[in-house]
Amino acid sequence: MDYNNAPLVPMSSPDLSEAERQAVLSVVNTSALSMGPYITAFEDAFCKYTGLPHAIGVNSGTAGLHLCVLACDIQDHDLVITTPFSFVASSNVLLYERAIPVFVDVDAHTGNINPAFVEAAAADLAAGGRAARQRLPRRGSAQPGPLKAILAVDVFGQMADYDRLRQTANRYNLRLIQDSCESLGATYKERPSGTLGDMGVFAFYPNKQITTGEGGMIVTSDNNAATKMRALRNQGRAPGDTWLEHSYLGFNYRLDEMSAALGTVQMQRLESLLAARQRTAAWYSELLEGVTGIELPQLAPETTRASWFVYVIRLAQGTDRAALSARLAQKGIPVRPYFSAIHLHPYMVERFGYRPGDFPVTEDLSARGLALPFSGKMTYEQVETVCQALRAALQPDPHDD
Ligand SMILES: Cc1ncc(COP(=O)(O)O)c(C=O)c1O
Repeated sequence: MDYNNAPLVPMSSPDLSEAERQAVLSVVNTSALSMGPYITAFEDAFCKYTGLPHAIGVNSGTAGLHLCVLACDIQDHDLVITTPFSFVASSNVLLYERAIPVFVDVDAHTGNINPAFVEAAAADLAAGGRAARQRLPRRGSAQPGPLKAILAVDVFGQMADYDRLRQTANRYNLRLIQDSCESLGATYKERPSGTLGDMGVFAFYPNKQITTGEGGMIVTSDNNAATKMRALRNQGRAPGDTWLEHSYLGFNYRLDEMSAALGTVQMQRLESLLAARQRTAAWYSELLEGVTGIELPQLAPETTRASWFVYVIRLAQGTDRAALSARLAQKGIPVRPYFSAIHLHPYMVERFGYRPGDFPVTEDLSARGLALPFSGKMTYEQVETVCQALRAALQPDPHDD
């Protein structure tokens, strides 16, 4: 059957109600389209949700992470321990400041940065000499600066092991940045996402738990960092600067009022949005339990709440993922490889000389991960359709082609 490439089930879909439409319309009917009341309301909602004193709305998660890098004073050739199993933005923000990402491999169950490897890398870098050299990329690290920070990423809606990361950060006097772009609503040992680093960042692309179209939010309890990031977001205009006076080299990372209005209403609906996503994930887990040839997402004991961002299965070793994806696409089911190992992207290889085999767990997860269509708006029937198609595609009938 020819589906004309129109998927039977969308890969993701935002969950917007009449309340969001009315809120956006109310902004459009005024002249306050930027830095008006909604950005404040949206930021207040995050302070309330996280219990932190500062929330700074920005126009993407990437912008938020970049401001964290600047607030942590991470500069040319400084070292930051981070994960190669992430969306590229978490490493790119280091490259923007010409810092050097020191990758360590991830936990095979969760895909989150492995705290034992972080501790070992920090110890080696602190020791200096040969041990330190071996931690650095082959290229682009001839004159390394000091180790400044750990940048952890909460993969697929599950938080990293922050108690252990915090121990290492304290031991070596490092800043801890939490990339919580995929984990709004998650908890780790009952503590909410975004609150376990020195600063945390959320993102609101349309496939995220809440959306503003494009957008992000930084949360922190660090007063100085918050003041700096607020200034940098707004072209470097510090408190006391007058119009066209700029204390710092800043950016236009402001979030507009239409987006902030959308986000403010989405935050009011957060619990029901999360519950709907949890329901979809539970259907998948129920319907795919025991299916041969795949592994289902795994949660760590410390994860007191996963905030389902995507539903990523792992294919058995040796499965031809591209052929499987093509068979599913033919049946109108979109799927995506997720994530692809950061250190093996062409620009990373060129700049730092990484090679296949450098981070085997990451490479294995990258080779076998497959994101299924996912949103809180999916019906049981849609999840069933995906699961049936997946089961059939895993055991292709040779007469089908
Ligand atoms: C882990 C992670 N970090 C950073 C980002 C960047 O967020 P944005 O797309 O809003 O810039 C994303 C977005 O998908 C992400 O998943």
